[in-house]
Amino acid sequence: MKRVLVCLTLFAVTSATVSIANAAAPADVSKAVGATELAAAAKTKAENLGKAVVDEASFGRAIESKAIARDGGVIACVAQALAEHNDGEATGINATGLRDAALVLSKTKTLADATVALKSVNDALSGKGAKSEKDHLWNKLVNMHRMMEEMELQGGTLRRVLKRPRRLESYSENAAVLVVLGLAMEADTHEVKDQSLLPKWTMWSKEYHQAMSGLNTAIKAGDGDKAKSIFDASEKHCVTCHTEFRD
Ligand code: HEC
Repeated sequence: MKRVLVCLTLFAVTSATVSIANAAAPADVSKAVGATELAAAAKTKAENLGKAVVDEASFGRAIESKAIARDGGVIACVAQALAEHNDGEATGINATGLRDAALVLSKTKTLADATVALKSVNDALSGKGAKSEKDHLWNKLVNMHRMMEEMELQGGTLRRVLKRPRRLESYSENAAVLVVLGLAMEADTHEVKDQSLLPKWTMWSKEYHQAMSGLNTAIKAGDGDKAKSIFDASEKHCVTCHTEFRD
């Protein structure tokens, strides 16, 4: 009897730890990034997606380039960060509704479905629509390949602007996207086939999103030199991790 109880208790503790570990972001989002730039990032993505659904030709190109899956997944990550953020409510965005709508959008394959899903995304951005569960698994927000593509795209934008910074503060939303993708990367460990290497994945993901937090702070402060040195140093995380887990 005693042994059964011990087992049951252990089971309860383990499952509770697992669900807590996965339900919230692997770091306190309120400390990692500002809600203002998260909101701006979500709005920029939704605006771009608006251009993808104007006609069949544009939609075809967006499907081809994976922009629907990628941007939908990115909005879902940003929305989940807003749902967990202390200042999320103040943005006026229905964050949980935005997350759910973006997840639907990311999986659409037809112009008609994407148009309906994007309308829900835009409704949620203006605070409308149904709200849902605050908790969501961070490893189920964006496909890893799409996440990596976005990290490359946003990194390219930031690399260009940091060479010759102009209106640097407006790029805070780009850094904010990289912070939340870093959080999703830390949570999504499915590429780690050898469990003994899990600490490495966690460490490199953590170092990456912490660097992106620092980058975001430097960008918001308009400190181009600091931002550039953080950005340049962060590129080693891509290479180090790819050497171990991808190549
Ligand atoms: C914690 C580990 C990790 C870090 C850090 C990381 N990646 Fe990746 N990356 C992977 C893995 C694993 C894959 C292969 C899985 C996949 O593509 O779905 C991958 C794939 C990619 C791909 C897909 C295309 C290809 O050539 O296979 C791109 C692009 C990419 N990463 C860019 C980046 C960039 C840019 C950074 C840094 C800003 C980065 N990654 C940081 C683990 C990482």
